[in-house]
Parts: sequence; structure tokens; C-alpha cells
Amino acid sequence: MATRIRTASDEAIREAAALLQQGELVAFPTETVYGLGADATRDSAAAQIFEAKQRPSFNPLIAHFVSLEDARTQVEFDTRAEAVANAFWPGPLTLVLPRLANCSISRLCSAGLETQAVRMPAHNIARDLLTACGLPLAAPSANLSGRVSPTTAAHVAAQIGETLTMILDGGPCGVGLESTVLDLSNPLARLLRPGAITQEMLMEVVGPLEVVSSDHVPPEGAALTSPGQMISHYAPTLPVRLNAGDVDQDEALLAFGPDVPIGAAQTVNLSPTGDLVEAAARLFDALHCLDRKPLRAIAVMPIPEEGLGRAINDRLRRAAAPRPPVQG
Ligand code: TXA
Ligand code: MG
Repeated sequence: MATRIRTASDEAIREAAALLQQGELVAFPTETVYGLGADATRDSAAAQIFEAKQRPSFNPLIAHFVSLEDARTQVEFDTRAEAVANAFWPGPLTLVLPRLANCSISRLCSAGLETQAVRMPAHNIARDLLTACGLPLAAPSANLSGRVSPTTAAHVAAQIGETLTMILDGGPCGVGLESTVLDLSNPLARLLRPGAITQEMLMEVVGPLEVVSSDHVPPEGAALTSPGQMISHYAPTLPVRLNAGDVDQDEALLAFGPDVPIGAAQTVNLSPTGDLVEAAARLFDALHCLDRKPLRAIAVMPIPEEGLGRAINDRLRRAAAPRPPVQG
């Protein structure tokens, strides 16, 4: 069946909800990136996500909820989790929490762990869809495993369009980077993935936390805390060269700020004024756009390592990391 890209009207949302209730896959917009959604309580639906993304089955999935109350029925919220959820939900923050004994989220979403990642998105279309289907939705970013995440319906269609029934089109995503992932399943809070809810913002609520990030990658062979820490990730087809101060004529340039080196075959400036929020929102679209053969590489100008810049640099370091011979 050909994939239908549908503008997210009330009617399209109702149709999408019915498809999800039947166990089908539907891609939908969130404030961060587009998600590849499926009924999180149904094993066969969760299994289809892994197949469509060609995602390794040891990489767990986030379950999305329309309310904190719904999330509380599945995972254990301690006082820290209550406090961060109250501070930042709905919004771009995922919490890794212990599964409750009667948790009805498919074990496939936990990928063999005793924890489940939960998130309450802020995007109206995501929220309307969750309400309409009355189910928690498992939704990873709607890209092929290891590749650049989608921030438009067209990005989704280009990578995995053939494998799903409907893409709800809600225009470009506002934040543009995946949610912050905070693990609260142990006494020491751990930041597993930087995002728009920054380390500084979280520390104000939970106090000290351990940062497990791309510049702290575990030694080879050591167990990964979050499989999303896989070093090569967000990879365009072309090689990525970081901290570029100059550029060759057979390279594409991902620029930032007002002082841009000249001579690139093609340039996209993430933010001519040096605004990190604007840069984050444009990052994945820029990578999709510059990733065109016969160019040799994508050169990336330095981005300041502060606030949202940390999340941007995390994605760029992974995009530039040496890639396994076969993407997993
Ligand atoms: O912004 C987002 O979070 C988007 C939108 C669609 O909500 N979703 C997303 O999902 O980015 P995904 O699957 O691409 O990334 C989820 C990350 C992965 O790094 C995964 O390893 C980690 O969260 N994760 C999920 N469950 C986990 C768990 N139980 N323990 C540790 N890490 C977990
Ligand atoms: Mg992803």
C-alpha cells in the first residue's frame, strides 16, 4: 500500500487513531522530531517498529502519554520524577523509570530492561492523536536506525515511507532535536541524552546528576547504559568533518554565526546570528539537505558547547563518529 501523507486535520487524526488501534504504524509530529508510532501495549505493533527502522532489538522505545496520570499507571514515579514531570511536562523530556509490576507496556519497548522510558509530548497533534486512540504510543524517531532524525513529513517519507500506513503532516518540528533523556531508575540521576531541557535546568530540580554523553563514551566492550549512546548515530551518507575553520570546494558547509568561510560547493547556515535555539531547529533538515553526492564531505563550523549547543554537538559528534561496516 502506498504511504499516505495527510495534513493533520481532525478527520486525519481520527483515521490515524483507528489505524493505531488496529496495530498499524503511523508517523506523527512532536515538538522534537517526527515519531514512528505504534500501540505500545501490543507486542506485534512494537515489533513492527523495530522492523521498519531496522533497529537492533536491544535498543528500547519511549512510550508516549497524554497525561502524567496515565504514565503513573505504568511506571514508578518517585518524588524526583514527580518534581521533574511537574516542572517540564508536557515537553521535550523523557524519563527512564522502573516498570510497575502490572505495567502493560510491551516488554519489547523495554528491550529486556526493568525500566521503561516515558514522555508526555507538548505538540498539539501528538496530544490529539494520543487522546483519540486512547493508547500509550511507542514512538522512536521516524528514521532508519543510525540515520538522521526527521523534522518534516518529507524526511519520514524519504527514509521509511514504504513501511508505514500513514504520515500525519504537522509541518516542521519546533525544537528539532530529540528529547532530553533522564534516567531516574537509580539514586543518582543520569543524563543519557542532552536535549532542549538542559542539564542546568534539570539540576535545579534534581540536584547533582551524572552526565553520560558522547564525549564520555564508554570504553569499547563496556556495557552501554542507554543503547542510544551508540557512538555512530545520526549519520548522513557523506562523512562529517567537525570544527571546520575553512572549507574545500568539493565539500558542503554547515555554517553557524556571521563569519562564514567561503568556497564551499553548498552552504546552509544554521543561524547567521548565532542563535542556538534556531540552530537546533534547523540541524537535521540542514543535514538532510547537504547530504548529496558527489560532494566529498560535510564540513561543520564549531558550535559553542553551552546550553542547547551541548545537545547539538552531541548529535554532530555522533554524526561524525567512525561508522560500523554495516549500520545496525
Ligand atoms: O524526542 C524524542 O524523544 C523522539 C520523539 C518521537 O518523541 N523519540 C526518540 O526516540 O528520539 P528514539 O527511540 O529515537 O530515542 C530514544 C532514546 C534511545 O537513545 C534509547 O536508547 C533511549 O532513549 N531509551 C529508551 N528506553 C530506555 C530505557 N529503558 N533505558 C535507557 N535508555 C532508554
Ligand atoms: Mg532516534
